[in-house]
Amino acid sequence: MKLLHVDSSALGANSVSRQLTAAIVARWQDNVAGLEVIYRDLDNNPLPHLTGAVLAKADPAVAAAGEQALQEFLDADVVVVGAPMYNFSVPSTLKAWIDRIAVAGRTFRYTEQGPQGLAGGKKIVVASARGSLHGDDAPTDFQEAYLRQVFGFLGIDDVGFVRAEGIGLGPQQRAEAISGALAAIAAPLREAA
Ligand SMILES: Cc1cc2nc3c(=O)[nH]c(=O)nc-3n(C[C@H](O)[C@H](O)[C@H](O)COP(=O)(O)O)c2cc1C
Repeated sequence: MKLLHVDSSALGANSVSRQLTAAIVARWQDNVAGLEVIYRDLDNNPLPHLTGAVLAKADPAVAAAGEQALQEFLDADVVVVGAPMYNFSVPSTLKAWIDRIAVAGRTFRYTEQGPQGLAGGKKIVVASARGSLHGDDAPTDFQEAYLRQVFGFLGIDDVGFVRAEGIGLGPQQRAEAISGALAAIAAPLREAA
């Protein structure tokens, strides 16, 4: 079984989403013997914006990097995504990765009946960290709602969220949000055990 671990926070050791993805992946490793983990850090090693030159595959090295990112995603049974809320959405580094995994003919296709996802059968676990309190289905949420839409479009309906929010509201709220999120990790892992 393969697990792809993706981080995107720019806050390094102070990152909440990085703390959560590490805990999620550790729990999967504890529960699944022989689990193969592939790690991609989109902050330390960002993919380029999807410009015309990238689409045209003008630089073979850039094209190969994009193909590798796509193949890692296709090969994974479980994808753990660290997703901070930045300006109500996701970091642009995470968006650049999404631009490389959402590829017509590989992870979705258009049919006469409409779009069809081709990447079904995976499990996605998103570690969501937010500075303010947004809650569920908030009009201010273009982060979790966006990720659910993207992965759903690719044919993946098993998308779980581990959320720590209110991180910017003070040390007590931060600590409580992190401990609450860590305690919530058990749910998706029981399915894998
Ligand atoms: C560039 C930037 C933009 C942010 N934008 C928002 C935002 O729109 N809404 C919000 O609630 N928090 C926002 N925050 C706060 C982060 O969501 C919060 O610090 C969270 O913990 C980030 O995840 P991380 O700790 O894994 O980096 C922002 C933080 C940064 C650095």
